[in-house]
Amino acid sequence: MTVKASRGKTTFRDLRDFLQAVEGKGELKQVKGANWEVEMGSIVELIYREGQGTRPAVLFDETPGYPKGFRNLFGTLGSTWRIAKALGLNEDEVQPMQLHENWYKKSREIKGIPPRMVTTGPVMENVLTGKQIDVLKFPVPRFHELDKARYFGTQHGVIQRDPDTGWVNVGTYRVMVVNQNTLALHAVPGKHGNLLMYEKYFARKKPMPIAIAVGMDPVLWYLSCQTDVPWGVSEFDAGGFIKGEPLEVIKGQFTGLPLPATAEVVVEGEVVPGEWVDEGPFGEWHGYYANRGLLTVPEPVIHVKAIYHRTNPIFTCSMPAVPPHTFTLFLSVADSVAIRRRLENFGIPGIKGVWSHYTGSGGLFNVISIQQMYSGHAKKVGVIASQYPAEQGAYTVVVEDDIDPSNLEQVLWSMVTRCRLDRQVEIITGCHTNNVNTAIPLSEKRSSGKATPLTAARIVVDACRDIAWKEDWYPIARISPELRATLVEKWKGVLSETGVV
Ligand SMILES: Cc1cc2nc3c(=O)[nH]c(=O)nc-3n(C[C@H](O)[C@H](O)[C@H](O)COP(=O)(O)O)c2cc1C
Repeated sequence: MTVKASRGKTTFRDLRDFLQAVEGKGELKQVKGANWEVEMGSIVELIYREGQGTRPAVLFDETPGYPKGFRNLFGTLGSTWRIAKALGLNEDEVQPMQLHENWYKKSREIKGIPPRMVTTGPVMENVLTGKQIDVLKFPVPRFHELDKARYFGTQHGVIQRDPDTGWVNVGTYRVMVVNQNTLALHAVPGKHGNLLMYEKYFARKKPMPIAIAVGMDPVLWYLSCQTDVPWGVSEFDAGGFIKGEPLEVIKGQFTGLPLPATAEVVVEGEVVPGEWVDEGPFGEWHGYYANRGLLTVPEPVIHVKAIYHRTNPIFTCSMPAVPPHTFTLFLSVADSVAIRRRLENFGIPGIKGVWSHYTGSGGLFNVISIQQMYSGHAKKVGVIASQYPAEQGAYTVVVEDDIDPSNLEQVLWSMVTRCRLDRQVEIITGCHTNNVNTAIPLSEKRSSGKATPLTAARIVVDACRDIAWKEDWYPIARISPELRATLVEKWKGVLSETGVV
């Protein structure tokens, strides 16, 4: 069933419905016969890094050793059109800064629509409990050549409940296969699912109920990956608003957690305090095996109590690798808006646009354009925004509003012509980081426990001309908007043939 189209709301019911639209748009690539053992992930890596044109969603079927119809889907949100479609944005405005602006405006209006509890749904078509439980019933990939294990959760949502308030969080934290009924969870410090959630259960020595949903509605998956859904706000509620109607959930028999009724696969389980298992190595989003190099790290164990799945399930996957990869583009959109909102929450005016360059840097090079209003404005923006990427030392560049922050050529031009390097570059040391940082030698990571956390630096580049001498700014050798408009009118033929308009 397709939900009736209406302005600003999404027009698909679930992942399958979305996929149909993707196929209709010509953005689906079907591949038959690839192996789950490194082959699927590597094919996707090549398509995303070396392929030309729009990067497709890639659907694998007829995997050796698995029944026909047990499919794997990569790159669900790997194109600008697919992101716009998923978020119910204008599908004709898909340039990076258009997407940024449209999502910025829409996400500002989000008011929660709580999920609707239903007694059953498509995910209950197949129910496996007791001896039937086998997480490898699905063609779970081993993604990279140096990954030790197969990874069940790479495009999924981990569902947990805050034991104090009952608030339910959905976050994407990778989930490794230990054996047929055991998984391992990797949620890094600072994430809602880690310190802020399971540490609460651990402190009380209580088992933590947990559910993992694979093949969720793309809206819910998008929200589960973005940091802009604050503590205390459920992704289910925000997702309902974006969809324009409540998401349907089923009360989990073993956990009481809300399970997305239209997901492809859902696992219910329990994390027991004090039980740890070696996790990793796994190739990460910035292109390295970086957690502790090729060493394993102890992580909490998940005991699987039940598996539910649709018939002929679509097992969704993400393939992190050297960027660009399957989730660099949509994280650019998500993080750009998150940075902008944080700056505005600080009461800083004049923010015109933000672009987080995941495609080249995995989100560690962020550019903010501002309309300068006072001396020190740009530096203030840069210093505050520099604290946003929680995981690794990063660059924050502040440019004027004639620069498109998503256009690296323009950003570079601004950096090399407007920044007085001796005054307008700051290195801020001692900032938050974690084990995923690739600039920190392994020896330091080995010796750091939770008692001696790692820190890293941020670089802030104020690439704006100082407004104190605005009257004397050097004239820019670029045609004026007025002359441009005249030329576009008069020379429409030439300029459209050459792609200018
Ligand atoms: C494909 C993908 C995989 C991710 N894997 C992890 C992970 O293994 N551990 C982690 O802490 N964050 C991971 N993240 C980042 C979190 O999903 C993101 O920070 C999210 O905001 C966490 O939700 P929370 O804010 O509710 O904690 C991943 C993101 C994506 C897109």
